[in-house]
Amino acid sequence: MSERIFRIAIDGPSGAGKSTIAKAVAKRLGIDYIDTGAMYRAIGLKMLAKGLPMEESPALTEMLAETEIDFDSGNVFLDGEIVNDRIRTQEVSKAASDCSALGSVRAKLVELQRKMGQAKSVIMDGRDIGTNVLTDAEYKYFLTATAEERALRRHKEMLEKGQESDLAKVLEQIVERDHNDSTRALNPLRKAEDAEEIDSTNMSIEQVVDYICGKVGA
Ligand code: DC
Repeated sequence: MSERIFRIAIDGPSGAGKSTIAKAVAKRLGIDYIDTGAMYRAIGLKMLAKGLPMEESPALTEMLAETEIDFDSGNVFLDGEIVNDRIRTQEVSKAASDCSALGSVRAKLVELQRKMGQAKSVIMDGRDIGTNVLTDAEYKYFLTATAEERALRRHKEMLEKGQESDLAKVLEQIVERDHNDSTRALNPLRKAEDAEEIDSTNMSIEQVVDYICGKVGA
């Protein structure tokens, strides 16, 4: 009997819990998790390392042609090197947001993402998965939570890690990133018409994971 192949697309603003939820769903269903934000972060990291300006250029085209990004056993590989931690800094967050507005970067990553979602069941999270990357995904969700709740979650996470955090500043940054991600010209963040919206403001991670797995029938 052939195994059923299905794709789950999860989009939503930063801090809504997409990656935590997608990881947990992937584990429970035994499918691959593809973190597309990590791919934009990896390109942002490489552009910073090479000193490339955050704009289209022949050097960027050349760099993209020789860049390899892969996922294996929960690790993110950039040109064969694990970059899990290096892509999570504030500086790289900003570079990822800036480079994600560039057409050449999006074209390269969307092509890679479509290939990754072709041959096997996957759950992919990002901003344009349901609207652009996997338009024919069998399951599409748009995960939201109020900006205040998302700021509070991030704030607690930073404090738990022993890092300093100012709630008002975190909220300000979240509102700014929402604005950047949803107003850019190319594939801005928006809910696909056929996506189901899940407002997680008053839901636990487990409740959202249960809900999605229930829909997939697992
Ligand atoms: O989800 P994240 O914070 O790791 O994403 C990093 C940046 O990449 C974010 O500013 C939005 C952008 N991004 C995108 O434009 N399209 C995606 N599919 C995923 C992320």
